[in-house]
Amino acid sequence: MIASEARAAEFACSPKRDLTFVRGSLATLWDEAGKEYIDCGASVGVGNLGHCNPAVAEAIAAQAHQLIHVGPSFGTAAKAGFVEKLLSVAPPNLKRVFLSNSGSESVEAAIKFARASTGRPKIVAAMRGFHGRTMGALSATWRREFREPFEPLVPGFVHVPFNDIDALDKAVDFDTAAVLLEAVQGEGGVHVATREYLEAARAICDQRDAALIIDEVQTGMGRTGRLFAIERWGVDPDILTLAKSLAGGVPIGATLTTEAVEKAFQGSHTSTFGGNSLACAAGTAAIEYTVREKLPERAERLGNEAIETLRGLDSRAVREVRGLGLMIGIELRGKAGPVLQALQDEGILAVGGGSSVIRLLPPLVIPEEQWFQAIDAIGRALHHG
Ligand SMILES: Cc1ncc(COP(=O)(O)O)c(C=O)c1O
Repeated sequence: MIASEARAAEFACSPKRDLTFVRGSLATLWDEAGKEYIDCGASVGVGNLGHCNPAVAEAIAAQAHQLIHVGPSFGTAAKAGFVEKLLSVAPPNLKRVFLSNSGSESVEAAIKFARASTGRPKIVAAMRGFHGRTMGALSATWRREFREPFEPLVPGFVHVPFNDIDALDKAVDFDTAAVLLEAVQGEGGVHVATREYLEAARAICDQRDAALIIDEVQTGMGRTGRLFAIERWGVDPDILTLAKSLAGGVPIGATLTTEAVEKAFQGSHTSTFGGNSLACAAGTAAIEYTVREKLPERAERLGNEAIETLRGLDSRAVREVRGLGLMIGIELRGKAGPVLQALQDEGILAVGGGSSVIRLLPPLVIPEEQWFQAIDAIGRALHHG
């Protein structure tokens, strides 16, 4: 058994769940007592390819015997291969990649690139948006509880209601470096951007020479039924942020930009572990697997079937079911916490999104039987809720 003192020694700065895992395979996790769980949270969207995906594991093992890390100013075969692979699947207007280690870091870079390429200070973000916990990313994040203990935050950030074109139009001016939006707000409770909103955001940024940053840290790499959620709407951002599932579970962050953003950038930025060879080898294997196994299409199909089932539940506990692909939010009339705990007791792991939303982000490789078993269990829990 893993010593409880060791868990207690983890600095208590966010809620801990009372589980310790020792093994994982695709959508299954095993705790230290050997109990099996169906993982419908996938580390909040990291595990698109499942736990210990063999293609990713083999790529990491092979790379570990060749080269693990050299500083970001050097080239490596692993980094070149990954950058080439990523750009081959990314929106075609994006031609430059900055590599880092997490979602927050990819957002920090996006904010710095936007400011230092426009020479302007202001960033317009959305209410209910989430972009990370480092000081810049946190300044773009909406929730008061996350922000207040750390104020003063970085100046120059304003928040407008999501999916409200007029409010965005009023907020973006000639001091604005960038508009920063999620295509689907994840932590904020799974709210999907409308086509009109994203198209208007693009047009407003063009009119005022501001950059459009789309944060696909959670939606990226197939989760919403497209490799990138914005493909559905055909809106090209100037800057795109990625992380979470990009390297099959190995820490990574990527900030993609147009050539124009790079050309106008006046400043410097780097990250010691950015472009780490293990992460890059894992990332190349992850993208190849995602494309080869048509995981976005699978996410779309399994997601649509589950959303239809959940919408048909006719449960008084449920206010609304929202989602795209395998990114699903079930908004409850009451608190999500007790339902999440009841599901955990039954061996189903899901995550919250705000206080009243149950969020489902299963691996895109989840076997159908396990997925519908989980959806049935959720249905039962909500009938009793
Ligand atoms: C949309 C979005 N951006 C940024 C982040 C921050 O990522 P990280 O926790 O890797 O720093 C998250 C994390 O949940 C996210 O969902």
